[in-house]
Amino acid sequence: MLEKLEQIKKTALTALTGIEGEEALNKWKTTHLGRSSAIMDAFKSMGSISKEDRGIMGRTANQVKLALQAALDEKKDALHQAAIQHALQEEKIDVTLPGYAIPRGRLHPATQTLREIYRVFADMGFQIYRSREVETDEYNFQLLNFPPHHPAREMQDSFYVASDADRGDNPILMRTHTSPGQIHAMRELTAEAPDNPPPVRIILPGMCYRYEQVSTRYESQFTQVEGLAVGKDITFSDLKGTLSDFARRMFGQDVASRFRASHFPFTEPSAEMDIECFLCGGAGCQVCKHSGWLEILGCGMVHPNVLSNGGYDPERYTGFAFGMGPERITMLRHHIEDIRYFWANDMRFLEQF
Ligand code: PHE
Repeated sequence: MLEKLEQIKKTALTALTGIEGEEALNKWKTTHLGRSSAIMDAFKSMGSISKEDRGIMGRTANQVKLALQAALDEKKDALHQAAIQHALQEEKIDVTLPGYAIPRGRLHPATQTLREIYRVFADMGFQIYRSREVETDEYNFQLLNFPPHHPAREMQDSFYVASDADRGDNPILMRTHTSPGQIHAMRELTAEAPDNPPPVRIILPGMCYRYEQVSTRYESQFTQVEGLAVGKDITFSDLKGTLSDFARRMFGQDVASRFRASHFPFTEPSAEMDIECFLCGGAGCQVCKHSGWLEILGCGMVHPNVLSNGGYDPERYTGFAFGMGPERITMLRHHIEDIRYFWANDMRFLEQF
C-alpha cells in the first residue's frame, strides 16, 4: 500500500511537469486530486486496512495529497508568472525608438513671399486692404483710364463671367490686376469725408486672372500686390525712396535698384523698377539674362483721372502706386523655371518649401 501511494505521487508529479496551460492544469487536478482520483480511492479504501497499518497509511496518504496540492499551487504560480513574463515581452515598448513624424502642413511658397512683402510694408506704415476678385469692366478698366479699345479688354485677355450678356459695356469679369482695388479703397475713404479725405497708405494683395496662353512664364491665375499712397505733396521721389527701401528690406541692404520709364494707363509718369540680380550680384547670369538686373515691379504717379475717379481732387492730392508679382519674385529667389508649378498643386513641388 505504501508503495502504491508512492506510485500515485510519482505518476501525478510526472504528469504535472509536462503541463503548460491552464486548461491542462484543471484536467490534471480532476484526474489526480478529484473525487475519483487514485489518491481519493486510497482514502476510501482505508476501512479495509488493518488497524495497526491504518495510522501510517492515513498519514502517508494525507502527505501525498498535500504534496500534490502543493505541487499544483506551485505550478499554478509558475504558469501565472510565465504568462506575465510573456505579456511583458510581447507588449514591450522601446521608448528609445524614433517616433512617427506627423506630417505637417506648410505655407505655399507664394504665400511665404507675400507675408514677407506684408511685413516690409507694414513696417513702413502700410495697411492691408482686401478687394474683390470678381469685378466690373468699369472698375477693372474704365475708372483706371483704360482707353475704350485697349487690348487688355479683349476676350483674349480677360475671363468674362458667363451671365453678363445684358450688361452692355460694363460686363463682369475676373479682375486682371489688383489695381481696381485702388478705386474701391479711395471711394470708401472719400465717402466718409468727401471734402477732406484722409491720406492713403495701403497694399492690396490678391489673386488675378488672365486669359493667357499658359507657358513657363505666364499663368492664367497669379497673385499681385498692389500698393497705393495718396496724400498732399507726394512726389516721384517718395515713390523712388519707398520702393528702393522696400527692395533693400526685402532683398538685402546692399541691393541696388533702378527705374526705367514705362507706360500704364492709370499712372503718369510710369516706370518699372529693376533690382540688381541677387544671384550674380550684377555680373550677369542666366536668370538675369546677362543684363545684371531683374525686373521686380511696375509703378508710377497716380493719374489725375484715377485720383478724381476715387474722389480725391487731383489739384490738392497726389499719389503713387505700384504692382508686383509674388510668384515672379519667388521664382527668382528659388531658381524656379516654370510658373505653372505654383498652382498645379503638385506635392513634390510644394514640399520643397
Ligand atoms: N496693374 C499693373 C499690372 O498688372 C501693375 C501696376 C500697378 C503698375 C500699379 C503701376 C501701378 O501690370
